[in-house]
Amino acid sequence: MNEKKVIGEKALEYVKDGMVVGLGTGSTAYYFTSKLGELVQQGLNIKGVPTSKKTETLANELGIPLVSFNEIEKIDLAVDGADEVDADLNLIKGGGGALLREKIIAASAKTFIVIADSHKNVDTLGTFPLPVEVVPFGLEMTIKHIRDLGGKTELRQQQGKPFLTDNGNYILDTNFQEIKEPKELEKKLNLIPGVVDNGLFVGMADAVITIIDKKLVTVF
Ligand code: 5RP
Repeated sequence: MNEKKVIGEKALEYVKDGMVVGLGTGSTAYYFTSKLGELVQQGLNIKGVPTSKKTETLANELGIPLVSFNEIEKIDLAVDGADEVDADLNLIKGGGGALLREKIIAASAKTFIVIADSHKNVDTLGTFPLPVEVVPFGLEMTIKHIRDLGGKTELRQQQGKPFLTDNGNYILDTNFQEIKEPKELEKKLNLIPGVVDNGLFVGMADAVITIIDKKLVTVF
């Protein structure tokens, strides 16, 4: 079974005509957006808000009409992937480097649905290194502050250069081992000058569509 495809397409059940829909980033969100594009071609009337330039390009290719924040009051639904999901539906996101836009859109959405294949389900967050988006200025000092919180940082690279987010920032993939108190860590990281945001999404997901014991399930 192509889990990502099955899960991504299942999330279409939440889409209703007239909605403003936040479009996630990543290989699972790709299947959601692709199917949404097909439905738009068949007459579905929705507007999309992309969480990354990559998703924006995909949506344009698929003919999904896009809106910017100044044109809307709210986002009805956001659908996005995750790198880890715990039993309380807390998430690590940002494997694709889009965590800031993803969090802005998830926080603005009335309903936030996460689409995560079976490998993403964990007891405790932290095996996947936590992506932390930081401004390039003062990088070494920001790293020191994050290390004071117990994180081992690695500057994300792409083709031998620091990876740049859509916002022109760097990503520090940060190993905290087990993250026992995700809310506290999310807040502490975001208090560090130089940190823009981090990939902990705590208490944000309304539901997670996933595979457990080879069965497609929606966890609330
Ligand atoms: C991008 C993300 C993705 O949603 C996350 O990395 C999951 O990706 P995939 O669906 O490809 O496994 O947070 O920043």
